[in-house]
Amino acid sequence: MLNLSQPQEFVKPAANCLASYVLEMLTAIHVDQFATSFANLPADPYLEGNYRFRRLSHFKVAGDRLVKLPHRRLFQSKQYNPLLGDVIREYAELDDALIHLEDFQRLIWEFFQFCQLCSTSLEIGVHQIRTTASSEKLGNPAPEGIHRDGVDVVGIFSVDRYGIGGGETHLYKTKDNSQPAFSKVLHPGEFLVFRDDQYFHYTSPVKAIEVESATRDVFVLTCPGLFPPDEAE
Ligand SMILES: [Fe+2]
Repeated sequence: MLNLSQPQEFVKPAANCLASYVLEMLTAIHVDQFATSFANLPADPYLEGNYRFRRLSHFKVAGDRLVKLPHRRLFQSKQYNPLLGDVIREYAELDDALIHLEDFQRLIWEFFQFCQLCSTSLEIGVHQIRTTASSEKLGNPAPEGIHRDGVDVVGIFSVDRYGIGGGETHLYKTKDNSQPAFSKVLHPGEFLVFRDDQYFHYTSPVKAIEVESATRDVFVLTCPGLFPPDEAE
């Protein structure tokens, strides 16, 4: 059980569900605090090439409290993920030091403001993901291509870009649409939130610029989480 109440500065007035996407700069969140945690991410064993590192945890909003849920596995159907769909994936939980950071909890509360508008779910999945690149090898933040996650709302929060070129995030109205509705490199502190049923998303490959090992760090939040069919609530 986490005991940080909803910070007042993030409470938004009641509104309709997002008609479009929202891009905001969360200046109240100090991303430097997350660096140690990202440096200790385990490799994603489901992806060839050893360039992606990640953890995953789930949280539930109970009144004005955030509750960390017990460990759960990740599942997407082939309909949503042609690369790793129908594979039950298991990732280590986010580390406790990160979860107890006030600014980390602020990010979840911020995302929940949008979930409340567009979803009946009180559950939020938080993916902590590092994509790496070297002078010889590109990193691919979205190896499945232009896709949907199969949830109600998705948020992408940029934590750090170290020596990274590329990694532009796109939203598309249709999967074969070559003209994105949104196209931008997300810089640290920027938070892109959109309805998963309204937009397909994609982030282009990343390359190293003037460093031997470059890193792109993000949190991807989903509402609700994505569980194997027999583990869904
Ligand atoms: Fe995605």
